[in-house]
Amino acid sequence: MSDSQQPVSSSPFIRQWEDTRSDVLNAVAAVGESGWYILGERVRRFEEKIAGYCGRTHAVGCASGLDAIELALRVLGLRPGDKVLTTPLSAFATTLAIVRAGGRPVFVDTDEFGLLDLDLADQALEHDSEIRFLVPVHLYGRCLDIGRLTDIQSRHGIPVIEDCAQALGAAHDGRPAGSVGLVATLSFYPTKNLGALGDGGALVTDDPEVAELAGQLRDYGQGAKFEHLHIGMNSRLDELHAAVLEDVFLPRLEEWNTRRAEVAGRYLEGISNPDVRPVPASRGFQSSWHLFPVRVPEDGRAAFRAHLEAGGVPTAVHYPTLIPSQPALSSGPHEVIGTVERARALTEEEVSLPIHAYLLDWEVERVVQLVNEWRAERGNGDSAGADTATGDDVEGDDLRRSG
Ligand SMILES: Cc1ncc(COP(=O)(O)O)c(C=O)c1O
Repeated sequence: MSDSQQPVSSSPFIRQWEDTRSDVLNAVAAVGESGWYILGERVRRFEEKIAGYCGRTHAVGCASGLDAIELALRVLGLRPGDKVLTTPLSAFATTLAIVRAGGRPVFVDTDEFGLLDLDLADQALEHDSEIRFLVPVHLYGRCLDIGRLTDIQSRHGIPVIEDCAQALGAAHDGRPAGSVGLVATLSFYPTKNLGALGDGGALVTDDPEVAELAGQLRDYGQGAKFEHLHIGMNSRLDELHAAVLEDVFLPRLEEWNTRRAEVAGRYLEGISNPDVRPVPASRGFQSSWHLFPVRVPEDGRAAFRAHLEAGGVPTAVHYPTLIPSQPALSSGPHEVIGTVERARALTEEEVSLPIHAYLLDWEVERVVQLVNEWRAERGNGDSAGADTATGDDVEGDDLRRSG
């Protein structure tokens, strides 16, 4: 099949496997030969490396990014019903972790870039002294203003837990995502910039007591074997995942992030269409380019996606529904302060173009060409292509679409 007939790959997995296969198999063999599968030397070594990568002194591996946030909140002393300020636009996991830890999520709007509006967050903290934690998200790989976050943390004396699931490698004014909060959390879900061959997560911190308690909580709350100090959980990073991450994927992360940045650079340079606005790239931040979001007119989104899909370009929406509007929260405790209209507009207008470290040049050029060809229909709705649209309720992190 020639390039022109092939669809653009939505995920890197098949090519990543071809590229890393022998190193991965060696890492797996080393774990098998060690005869140790749970919380052994490989997890300890990977924790040391990932803490170092994040500029932190400690890391605690766990089963997912979701669990990392829950563990962080529990370690920092969240009590049932405590209010936790966060963003209405993120993976649902950010809020789910708050609810699972027993907290009450409180939402303020995002800015026009989809990041938590730090002015609104500041005001909310000013007016409501019951808010006890702040969980900001470096969404799409874009880094929030680290200086402002640091200032908010110290002025309000409030623990910040940075959700860095999408932001490994992102920075603001040279200061990395994950460097502000008492704790920062990571996800190694396969589509992430540093993705495992399955689920995984970690929290990073400079506080040895936080790390020790998180290490106990993830392992049934054990201090020593069969001595259960806390009501913990089973959320352990497997030796197999740790070995593959440490030996094979972490050493390639910089190279992979560089390729993501090249792809993003080409999109930013090549996309020229009045109806398609890339969510801007700068304002002092260096993105990890986890995603490449663009905005199109709301009533043209289905047609835009159908146009790309017909040309073999898969797209996704991050995110089609605001977190406070999710059915799971309808009867659950939460608060929305003010309107969340900027976040809502993104749920209606955002489209994520393909981006990953194994995207090929011809695929990038195909995306640019198709994006530039498209024109929104004016004045008569969005009938064109609506039948063939992939549907706005589809999220992009779909592991079934690989290669
Ligand atoms: C911003 C954000 N937070 C948290 C998570 C949860 O991570 P995991 O899927 O590893 O539980 C994700 C991943 O989907 C995410 O994108």
